[in-house]
Amino acid sequence: MQHKIITTVDGSHTIFVPELNEHYHSTNGAIQESNHVFIEKGFRYYLRKQKQPQQEINILEIGFGTGLNVFLTLLESEKWPVNVFYNSIELYPITIEEAQKLNYSELVDNQVNISLFLELHTTPWEKAVDITPSFTLLKQKFDFSKPDEFKSDRLFNLIYFDAFAPEKQPDMWTQEIFNKIYSLSDKDAVFTTYCAKGVVRRMLQTAGFKMERLPGPPGKREILRGSVV
Ligand SMILES: C[S@@+](CC[C@H](N)C(=O)[O-])C[C@H]1O[C@@H](n2cnc3c(N)ncnc32)[C@H](O)[C@@H]1O
Repeated sequence: MQHKIITTVDGSHTIFVPELNEHYHSTNGAIQESNHVFIEKGFRYYLRKQKQPQQEINILEIGFGTGLNVFLTLLESEKWPVNVFYNSIELYPITIEEAQKLNYSELVDNQVNISLFLELHTTPWEKAVDITPSFTLLKQKFDFSKPDEFKSDRLFNLIYFDAFAPEKQPDMWTQEIFNKIYSLSDKDAVFTTYCAKGVVRRMLQTAGFKMERLPGPPGKREILRGSVV
């Protein structure tokens, strides 16, 4: 698929896919969206609600994409006494040349962690790699529209569901996929997505999650969060 790097309203880049007429992030602000949906309403929320300091957290992400969610989670995790195992799924990885053009490290930390950001892209697929002593990344090239074929030897505490929009990729928003994700969720798991569609909320409910509608980032009224209760 052809890719075009464009700048969103908060100054951060995203990728536009002409074939799908779809962006990897909100055009209102890629970093802003990722920080709101996945870091604030997901990662920080999950850690804040723990009664005891959480030492290990397993994250499952559907859609590695530009690596922005991984990068922001890695930087945020340094502020918490936590070890992260991050399993990210992607069927169509971007190239290293594309990753080099993305301005995330420049905007987030003045390029201090640019090599760390690029490492997220250059590390091999299908292999758990310690990016830092407290952050392990397992990237898998896998077609998640065939969820029954996905195997994991662990349960996940946090799920970032970041597929392309349901109108663009309906085969990534099915009851079968959400049932599979529920079966991979630990007893305290939290699921977040930028999507707020009623049909998605109902499928997640049917899978077993207790669902909440939350205020979205600028330009988006609501997002969804699910919890295992
Ligand atoms: C909204 S983007 C993900 C954005 C990403 N989380 C980030 O931080 O940049 C959706 C991603 O899902 C990937 N994708 C599309 N079809 C897929 C499939 N069948 N299985 C797994 N990933 C898929 C796309 O290649 C794209 O990278």
